Amino acid sequence: MTLNQKEIEQIHHMFSQALTKVTTLEALEVIRITYLGRKGKITELMNQLKQLPVEQKRLLGPVLQELRQSLTTKIEAKKSELELKQKTNGSFFDVTAYDPAHKNGSLHVYSLINQQLEDIFISMGFEVVSGPELETDYYNFESLNIPADHPARDLQDTFWLNLPGKLLRTHTSTVQAHCMEEKKLPLAIFAPGRVFRNEATDATHDFMFPQGEVMLIDKKISIANLLATAKAFLQEFFGQKDLKIRTRPGYFPFVEPGIEIDGSCPFCKKGCSVCKYTTWIELLGAGLVHPNVLRCSGINPEKYSGFAIGFGIARLAMLKYGINDIRLFHSDKLSFLEQF
Ligand code: DAH
Repeated sequence: MTLNQKEIEQIHHMFSQALTKVTTLEALEVIRITYLGRKGKITELMNQLKQLPVEQKRLLGPVLQELRQSLTTKIEAKKSELELKQKTNGSFFDVTAYDPAHKNGSLHVYSLINQQLEDIFISMGFEVVSGPELETDYYNFESLNIPADHPARDLQDTFWLNLPGKLLRTHTSTVQAHCMEEKKLPLAIFAPGRVFRNEATDATHDFMFPQGEVMLIDKKISIANLLATAKAFLQEFFGQKDLKIRTRPGYFPFVEPGIEIDGSCPFCKKGCSVCKYTTWIELLGAGLVHPNVLRCSGINPEKYSGFAIGFGIARLAMLKYGINDIRLFHSDKLSFLEQF
């Protein structure tokens, strides 16, 4: 039979049929040699092509080339398929498989609370910033008017590290000096982040928890600005437009005067277990930035003044969602996590 289009098609057809039956790499190799080997069918056809008159050659040459290309591609594809099967032992991970017990993920309660807090402070014109968790003595203490021999250093149980002068920050007030150094005045920042305390854990204490630090510095900032900001923040956070605040004196070395801010209990009018039947809940530490703190970062306290507010984000979340154990936040209890 002289070489013609029909024969080429037939060979292609035979090849395809043989290929579908192949289940091993060895059988595939046999087919490859049969068709594409040096003495294979394609070579044979090529030899026949050489005998043909020029016109036929022109016609069938490209058809043969195409056939050779097509067989090569199909053999390569089959080879990959068989190799993969060998590797995975024939079992594939089916990403479309339906799992009746499938559960949707949800945001962690910390993420939710952080988003709410960020929205509130951004809406009041504050910039959300962050600072390092691995800190130096300077930013954690010195720059905050807590010198080496100051008794206030005992207030915080610090995780000191085996790196000279390095510690895990014990509060987010560390961000104050970083921002005063880096940013231009006026300054309005909200810095949420993790802090670390070397202390025993119980339902209300953890060795790691999130805090938020708020700082505003400008000309003529007074305690009135501080109280208005604190009140607006708490009213928005607890969703209660009539939430009231009251202040008590508090001591924090980096503010003067220092105050503690209580909010009227968002959960009752006459006293409940959350407010311990007092109708007030302790919520924030705050004060006017101490002149030494401003001076330390090169800000003239004669010209500028400011306020700072600090609070435990976990504590606010516990109050808002009625969570009774701080350790639940970073537990792996699905029954807790699924509620948010
Ligand atoms: N840094 C304090 C703490 O960890 C919280 C705090 C109190 C921050 C008063 C402030 C403040 O900015 O004015 O307990």
